Amino acid sequence: MLKRGEKFMFIFSGIVVVAAIAKGYHHFTDLDPAPPKHFYSFDEVGLQGHEVYRKKGCNSCHRAMGTGEVGVAPVLDGVGTRRDLPWLKEYLTDPGSLVPGTAHYGNLGPDFRLLENEEREKLAAFLSGLRANPNSPNYPLKVKRESE
Ligand code: HEC
Repeated sequence: MLKRGEKFMFIFSGIVVVAAIAKGYHHFTDLDPAPPKHFYSFDEVGLQGHEVYRKKGCNSCHRAMGTGEVGVAPVLDGVGTRRDLPWLKEYLTDPGSLVPGTAHYGNLGPDFRLLENEEREKLAAFLSGLRANPNSPNYPLKVKRESE
């Protein structure tokens, strides 16, 4: 028979071992977090587009890459997945042809019709690089096209 003190030590070390295993398991699961919701993939032109985006103050209404406002306008993280490059270029040329009553005729957001072609190319490349994984809340915002 174990003495009182020995019994206590036996149970106590049992608890320590269980706690250590539980902690180890936690550590193990921490190493395998949920996949990121967004990722970024910019070529040289896309990086120049980020400069244009910053200079034009787009993040005073939009949120992307961890900065900018929410609630005013759509979050742009993931926009390069929910919209394709031709859509983005068209939107930056004549947004009203895709979004009736658009804010981007200068009534709220900047008037995209006034962009220079070079700025348009750069911005489109930047926006196209703001990608979403399927677990992103911005991913399923699929565009309904006339042809669909
Ligand atoms: C004053 C607020 C404001 C600013 C500044 C602004 N936007 Fe917007 N943006 C909006 C609003 C509102 C919408 C909602 C759609 C619409 O009205 O066309 C929008 C929509 C968009 C969309 C379409 C998103 C989608 O998937 O439907 C893109 C792309 C976009 N803006 C890019 C830009 C870029 C690039 C700039 C900077 C040159 C910019 N915005 C600056 C308000 C703003």
